[in-house]
Amino acid sequence: MNVLVVGSGGREHSIVKKLGESNQVSNIYVAPGNGGMAAEATCVNIRETEIKELVTFAKETQIAWTIVGPEVPLMDGIVDAFQLAGLRIFGPTEKAAMIEGSKDFSKAFMARHDIPTANYATFTDCDEAKAYIKANGAPIVIKADGLAAGKGVVVATTVEQAFEAVESMLLANKFGGAGNRVVIEAFLEGKEFTLMAFVNGENVYPLLPARDHKRAYDNDEGPNTGGMGAYAPVPDLDQSIITYAKEHILHKAAEGMVLEGRPFTGILYAGLIETASGPKVIEFNARLGDPETQVVLPLLENDLIQVIEDVMCGKDPELSWKEGYAIGTVVASKGYPESYAKLVPLPVFEENDESYVVHAGTKVERDSTYRSIGGRVLLVGSVQPTIEQAHQSVYTFLKQFEQTNDFFFRRDIGK
Ligand code: AMP
Ligand code: GLY
Repeated sequence: MNVLVVGSGGREHSIVKKLGESNQVSNIYVAPGNGGMAAEATCVNIRETEIKELVTFAKETQIAWTIVGPEVPLMDGIVDAFQLAGLRIFGPTEKAAMIEGSKDFSKAFMARHDIPTANYATFTDCDEAKAYIKANGAPIVIKADGLAAGKGVVVATTVEQAFEAVESMLLANKFGGAGNRVVIEAFLEGKEFTLMAFVNGENVYPLLPARDHKRAYDNDEGPNTGGMGAYAPVPDLDQSIITYAKEHILHKAAEGMVLEGRPFTGILYAGLIETASGPKVIEFNARLGDPETQVVLPLLENDLIQVIEDVMCGKDPELSWKEGYAIGTVVASKGYPESYAKLVPLPVFEENDESYVVHAGTKVERDSTYRSIGGRVLLVGSVQPTIEQAHQSVYTFLKQFEQTNDFFFRRDIGK
């Protein structure tokens, strides 16, 4: 069958790689993709938000399944449009993607269904928001209601910082419409982890837990980024925590969405924090995580297309996982997540059997060398029997990037 992947980053390359293992898939298309994945899939020059054009392409190319990576097209109704055209697509409808698209909706939904999360209040008026901050004190967390490419969250350590954050969102329109409403919530302390699941209505099939590293520099210092590395599974997580999170968070959320007339289909992503009083939800996403996907899919033994077909027809896909651990470290452009140069040549590197390379933002040249086209450029990953061995393999590979000043990577992923 022909399969279309929508998106252009490392997560989408990882999906492409996984689909490449399937003997049911003959042609993989990716819209728009990036140069680094062109050897494994046909890149189609349609942007992820050009939904009409994607529908036309899928019809003309007889695409059997479309898999959507990023959140923006989901919120724009790509799934509804494909379904209306009689095309098979894996992801939530616009109504179900609200669980990620509006933090206010998501928090109120959790409250209605008794899903553990931080206490919160929602504001559109800046003075009222400030009064709430004053009454609750710092640390406190301010979140833009709508999609803000992962930049809409401020963990304020002082009341002044919290004031600045609400002013920037409610008065200075820093995130446009996405910040016209803010969620203010209690600061939670604990280790974070990600639990994703294939979901179809009330049926929930969890993936292995993972942990991503959002801060730019070692020891979780520096600014927040789209993610500088990840590993899976998470060795410090007690099985009882995972079981609790599956039952009281993922299952409850899926059941709640059905009860509210917006059944969720696709990947439900729970960003969780292990607090002294149990795991709590930091955020829900309506899609696979990036870079969690790049370390979770390489551990999945099943054929991804078969899993999707099973889940969509209400059958247990019987997920099975490789023993061992995957870790992945992102190579980023110098200056990321602030401004950085583009079209910088990457050092010439050789691939080996111990590691894998996922392209997040590269362009391929005629002589088969690469140039950067984004902040996050590559992810180097490895699957090994122990997390130490996986760490070792990744960092041995990354020696090839040590001489360059144009790129940087964290040294402590999976350490
Ligand atoms: P988000 O984009 O919602 O995942 O938030 C980005 C990061 O902000 C999270 O990974 C957490 O580290 C932090 N964060 C968000 N909400 C809270 C909270 N209530 N308490 C503590 N940290 C938080
Ligand atoms: N890794 C965080 C996210 O995908 O939103």
